[in-house]
Amino acid sequence: MATHHGPPTVVVVGSTNIDLVAYLSRVPRSGETLVGRRFQMGFGGKGANQAVMARLLGAEVVMVNCLGDDTYGDMTLDNFAGFGIDTANVYRVPGASGVAPIWVEPDGSNRIIIIPGANHELTGDQAARSVRRTPDAGAVVGQFEIPQEVTAAAFAAAREQGATTVLNPAPAAALSSGLLELTDWLIPNEVEFETLSGGSPDSDRALVAFAEETATRLVVTLGEDGAAVVSAGFDRVERLPSPGVDPVDTTGAGDAFVGAFVFGLASGLGERAAVRLGNACAADSVTRPGTQSSFPRSERIEQLLAEIRGSSV
Ligand code: RIB
Repeated sequence: MATHHGPPTVVVVGSTNIDLVAYLSRVPRSGETLVGRRFQMGFGGKGANQAVMARLLGAEVVMVNCLGDDTYGDMTLDNFAGFGIDTANVYRVPGASGVAPIWVEPDGSNRIIIIPGANHELTGDQAARSVRRTPDAGAVVGQFEIPQEVTAAAFAAAREQGATTVLNPAPAAALSSGLLELTDWLIPNEVEFETLSGGSPDSDRALVAFAEETATRLVVTLGEDGAAVVSAGFDRVERLPSPGVDPVDTTGAGDAFVGAFVFGLASGLGERAAVRLGNACAADSVTRPGTQSSFPRSERIEQLLAEIRGSSV
């Protein structure tokens, strides 16, 4: 991708959810009722989270998504508007918007259930049309919370206009070959990598083999250990560590990584710096509760960007 002057434009084709987060001392056993410590309702969905992270860093962001005609849909639109995210390609259908009940334990680890609702109503035609309406898009990003064929239609349109395609295969599911052929960068987390490849992300050989098999640029996020990147020639793995932090809530950290990585890539930072920016934003986000509410803001964003831009990469 060429060096970009001015803010890059990123199109996110993906999900929005309302996150219903319960903070607990431990998760309940079957048949057990527990008293939780705290509850937080917030804005989530992997697509929306990645859009918000890229926007917070300064990208022009176009969200492509489908919402229900409920209050959650209205709230989600207001949330996007508050961030200055373009919602001209957010569609609405009768019924419920996506929701995600989430349990978070004291070590920051989470368990998430998604109920897709309207997220599954976005069509391939809508997705492709929305991408075509954004001819200056530097990158088009997708996840697995909307049907794969819809993401494939968006990626096909992205390819036609020379945009880089980035797929975060989350939550893990078998990859359709049609979508894979249209994917430039594949970014699973460690669990998703194991599910998709059958190998361990601890093994450089497994990472290289999977990158070669999928013919994609592969970045695997490794939680507190940062991320591993397979080189373009499929001959080298670089492991870039994450800044050490005390986690409070890891929900959305992977999305902070993807949103920041895509921003970095689309703004011409270079892939190594883009991964480091992803690591920095993800680590920062786990120090605060919630999903989008945990992402770094204004001054912290400036600080993180200055650190990445200032160090030799
Ligand atoms: O990655 C975290 C996200 O997963 C949450 O916001 C939740 O909505 C689910 O999509």
